[in-house]
Amino acid sequence: MAKDKTQYVCSECGGTSPKWLGKCPSCGAWNSLVEQAPAAAPGAAQNRFGNTFAALGGASELAVLAEIEATDVARTATGLEELDRVLGGGIVPGGVTLIGGDPGIGKSTLLLQAADALQNAGQIALYVTGEESGAQVALRAHRLGLERSQVQLMAEIQLEKILATLDAHRPAIAIIDSIQTVYSDQLTSAPGSVAQVRECAAHLTRFAKASGTAVVLVGHVTKEGALAGPRVLEHMVDTVLYFEGDTHSSFRLVRAIKNRFGAVNEIGVFAMTERGLRGVANPSAIFLSQHAQPVPGSVVLVTLEGTRPMLVEIQALVDDGGPSPRRLSVGLERDRLAMLLAVLHRHAGVASMDQDVFVNAVGGVRITEPAADLAVMLAISSSLRGKALPKGFVAFGEVGLAGEVRPAPRGQERLREAAKLGFSVALVPKANAPKKPIEGLTIHAVDRVDEAMAVVRQLD
Ligand code: TYD
Ligand code: MG
Repeated sequence: MAKDKTQYVCSECGGTSPKWLGKCPSCGAWNSLVEQAPAAAPGAAQNRFGNTFAALGGASELAVLAEIEATDVARTATGLEELDRVLGGGIVPGGVTLIGGDPGIGKSTLLLQAADALQNAGQIALYVTGEESGAQVALRAHRLGLERSQVQLMAEIQLEKILATLDAHRPAIAIIDSIQTVYSDQLTSAPGSVAQVRECAAHLTRFAKASGTAVVLVGHVTKEGALAGPRVLEHMVDTVLYFEGDTHSSFRLVRAIKNRFGAVNEIGVFAMTERGLRGVANPSAIFLSQHAQPVPGSVVLVTLEGTRPMLVEIQALVDDGGPSPRRLSVGLERDRLAMLLAVLHRHAGVASMDQDVFVNAVGGVRITEPAADLAVMLAISSSLRGKALPKGFVAFGEVGLAGEVRPAPRGQERLREAAKLGFSVALVPKANAPKKPIEGLTIHAVDRVDEAMAVVRQLD
């Protein structure tokens, strides 16, 4: 199986070595050598500059940009509305999509549903399963109510066989579940290693571009993080989707973090049910936990997910810490938390140096937008003071190091969504204050962190 021309290439400096070494002989980096398949053409041509190009077969044609017709990409809707939304309308022929996520979060379920919907719409869908047997996939199909599904199934993990089959059948969409189980004979590394994952994905991508088959690669996010996980593939593919959500709650978010054919940061919201994933068309209120009475340390944030405003409860717990107090955040950035604590101390006189501070975004959502700052800060001060914010209170706004409260994008939409869901008091940056009053909503607009704290004390 092994080919003697395999070489090892350093992922830091590009240096090569004929055998694997722990330390790169060229740059000295540790653990950076990755196996690479031998070059395709040994008798490489030389051009007149003396350079060797393995694939040199003649110069390529050039085109003038202005003369190229700008056709919009054709898309095929999968029929799952929430998935189509993240994809920017549907799958694109020849497009390669990577779907990453923790094991058990619902990748196989979603893709089987999508494959079936496409097949029903008259497209050929081919599902390559390397993780489960055909019988296991059939069992899942039963559970999903798809026992009569016409989706083509192939249980195979060898890349060369997969490619040959794809070439023979030319499906509209091919799902590879998962890329970490596929291996190529060209490499000696184990399936799932960086070298294998990268090589197999490169071949599948080339096939997609040449044939027009849309390829979907499933990738598990490994505990070790980046290495051997889907991250090494992000730059190769057209679209990267990540599954998010707490496996303990039934809600799942599918987020586009890269999309050559559509907007990024768009999300699709699903609920995992007994019969598979169901799209949640109106998700704005699903991340609120239901308190009968307001509790200290809880603030509802109006965040923006893609183009949609959503309400997410932010919780904070501030408690006496030991000699080295902890700062922990779930679903929010920890560095940002440290910054907010410093701003809170310096500009609003709220000290928490000797306190443990925990913050959490309810429901397993991950919030990266700075517009969450104000809500996080209010949740912390609320917990510290042991005073709850009034019922029906929402907040958003970015906080700067100088203690200023900066506007958030699409403030009006956020406020309207909050009003629609019955919230009655909003604390927002001055620049986001609406010109016309919004029915049912009392708005407090502030410029600075200390003003925000003063408003909150008034509301007590
Ligand atoms: P799965 O799609 O196998 O996850 P992944 O491919 O990302 O590893 O989903 C597995 C989980 O979903 C499993 O815990 C069972 C649950 N599930 C349901 O709750 N309802 C269903 O209809 C199906 C098919 C799965
Ligand atoms: Mg799976």
